[in-house]
Amino acid sequence: MTADPRTAPVLVPLPLPTDLDAPDAWLLHGMVDAVNDVLLDTWGTRDEARVAGEQLAALRDQEYVTRLRFVALDAPPEAGPPDPARVLGRAVLDLPRQDNTHTGSAGVEVRPAHRGRGIGAALHDLVIATARAHGRSTLTASSDHAAEPDAGPGTLAPSTGTGRVRADDRGVAFLAHRGWTLEQVVRRSVLDLPVDAPVLAGHAAAAARAAGPDYRVVRWEARCPDELVDQFAHLQTRMSTDAPKGGLDLREDVWDAARVRAAEQTYVDRGMPYRVAAALHQPTGDLVAYTSLVSRPDSDEFVFQDDTLVLREHRGHRLGMLVKTANLARLAEVQPGARRIGTWNAEENAHMLAINVALGFRPAGGSGEWQLRLG
Ligand SMILES: CC(C)(COP(=O)(O)OP(=O)(O)OC[C@H]1O[C@@H](n2cnc3c(N)ncnc32)[C@H](O)[C@@H]1OP(=O)(O)O)[C@@H](O)C(=O)NCCC(=O)NCCS
Repeated sequence: MTADPRTAPVLVPLPLPTDLDAPDAWLLHGMVDAVNDVLLDTWGTRDEARVAGEQLAALRDQEYVTRLRFVALDAPPEAGPPDPARVLGRAVLDLPRQDNTHTGSAGVEVRPAHRGRGIGAALHDLVIATARAHGRSTLTASSDHAAEPDAGPGTLAPSTGTGRVRADDRGVAFLAHRGWTLEQVVRRSVLDLPVDAPVLAGHAAAAARAAGPDYRVVRWEARCPDELVDQFAHLQTRMSTDAPKGGLDLREDVWDAARVRAAEQTYVDRGMPYRVAAALHQPTGDLVAYTSLVSRPDSDEFVFQDDTLVLREHRGHRLGMLVKTANLARLAEVQPGARRIGTWNAEENAHMLAINVALGFRPAGGSGEWQLRLG
């Protein structure tokens, strides 16, 4: 008896094509289309949509993280035309190679039109088996939601107690049924641009007054100045220890100058402008805070807020607001077509959320952050 393809998806590792026109590149195009279908279904916008060239460049960057991708098809690739629509879903497994080698970051996405026929379950099983084969003992995953529910029946709270997800959300139910535990809820917020210039200048001036003369803002685009790169690497290491992680078993992830340069090069390869504003503590010459914005390769309209960090020992001086306003002012100058910035912050990260709310960011859904112990 032939297997019913509707219940037996064919799962194949994504080949990394040499370029976007290579004979096997249709699988990458199909994977990106599938992810974009899921993003549109979840968020109702294409703001966070992926772009094939950018994804190919991101997947080539495997020095610090092994990036495995699997795609689900109805039949083996060679059994049909090279049509991206044949890709029904995909799984992600990112495996850190230097720190946090006990864990990995997983994801399963199925095109809305092909859900409910076992594709998600099959991709999930493959990811778990692969993570085990790589010796991982825990995994993390996210479930996205366009609106965070009010407290009440039918909601789940994470181990931090802050934030909620709907228990009947398909992604939530999918992970909960498979033994994952909800360890954190992250709020997504969007800032509509342009911010009124006098309002932004007012926040910047108030932050500069509170910070005082000991702190100076430095900004760069694409490449950190050589004299600051070791310190910038240290800040990125501290991002892994100082940002709230809820109940997720994530440990220190050490950065050095070479890794900073590799990450910068990947943004260049992805065609994504990368802008940093940082605070320098003048008495010591130390870099003590930073924030970064990353623009899309294909449109000016939407901008990703990347990391923001103020070292613990320099908190309470409004440095978060200082660097954020400096980067927003720069963005307004160099990318006047920007209309929205999206950011993600842990619900328990009250100080960061307060800065964003003061700047005018509005809640726009978020994610549940989940963990599975593989035993
Ligand atoms: C979650 C997701 C991957 C599931 O994909 P799928 O192919 O529909 O999954 P399956 O067909 O294997 O079914 C998964 C579960 O949904 C149930 N289901 C099937 N049809 C359903 C329907 N119409 N409505 C709700 N649940 C349904 C299945 O019974 C199964 O239940 P189980 O968890 O108890 O086993 C998919 O909804 C998706 O891509 N969501 C967005 C991304 C996401 O949230 N991913 C999960 C976190 S990484």
